[in-house]
Amino acid sequence: MRPKILIARAIFPDVIERLSQVFEVESNQEDRVFSVTELRQKIADKDGLFITGSERLSAEVISAAPRLKAICNMAVGYNNIDVEAATGAGVMVTNTPDVLNATTADFAWALLMATARRITESEHWLRAGHWEKWTYDGLLGADIHDSTLGIIGMGRIGQAIARRSMGFDMQVIYHNRSRLSPEQEARANHARYVSKEDLLRQADHVVLVLPYSPQSHHTIGAAELALMKPSATLVNIARGGIVDDVALIAALKAHRIAAAGLDVFENEPAFHPDFLGLSNVVLTPHIGSASEPTRRAMANCAADNLIAALGGAVPPNLVNTSLRTGT
Ligand code: GLV
Repeated sequence: MRPKILIARAIFPDVIERLSQVFEVESNQEDRVFSVTELRQKIADKDGLFITGSERLSAEVISAAPRLKAICNMAVGYNNIDVEAATGAGVMVTNTPDVLNATTADFAWALLMATARRITESEHWLRAGHWEKWTYDGLLGADIHDSTLGIIGMGRIGQAIARRSMGFDMQVIYHNRSRLSPEQEARANHARYVSKEDLLRQADHVVLVLPYSPQSHHTIGAAELALMKPSATLVNIARGGIVDDVALIAALKAHRIAAAGLDVFENEPAFHPDFLGLSNVVLTPHIGSASEPTRRAMANCAADNLIAALGGAVPPNLVNTSLRTGT
């Protein structure tokens, strides 16, 4: 009998076709968002799961799937999965690293540029019919070139963002759990390691690219925002919860910092409604990896992991590596 899998959300039909060659597939091309109860019911007889970052695989959900061997996330972040509970149940967890590095780094720049140069605010103003004449001080923004870029979270995406700053003649400072090697720092536009506080004080543009965990919860709150320059911008492409959104809204309202660019939010997609009333924030709906080739690569990467895991091999992107010996 072929292993049974659930593909929890709509994905590329050719990837479903690929998985159907080896598995008995239950798909969800109507893209319904399952409640916890529905998810528990649907996974009760499954050997493997293909999920996205939007599905919450808590210990309670995982416990409803006694046959489960693998949870394959179509995302690099996996804070939506209780990895400890999965490991305890002997369930492999995989993610999709690397394939999205360049696309996500490009997107960080798109958001940074839009935020610093007030692109979306300008467009709203123009569309609203306000453009009657040129003014010397209309919609002035911050410069990117020759400024200081501060990156918090200097993994593969952070380093790709830093490399892209070379063309803008920027200084790069970074903060990370661990320091890069001198060679990595040199490749990342000679990035300089500093404390989080020094980074916040010195950077003209702060970009957040760190994984979410209980330790990184509210890495940026009122105290951190108070350290930033009033002219600085803040970009979050990492995860909701890394920024205290209520504190950020207060700082943006008070012009404590100049502007923010946000692709991720606490409680997304039900983000804090006060963001909508602010002109100094650029808002996008968690689309950092959303280019056609990259989303395809992510879907195929998750499929590769699932095929390997249920085929008795070590999946290429195993997160809970302690299970490796058991496969
Ligand atoms: C997107 O947020 C991802 O983790 O891939």
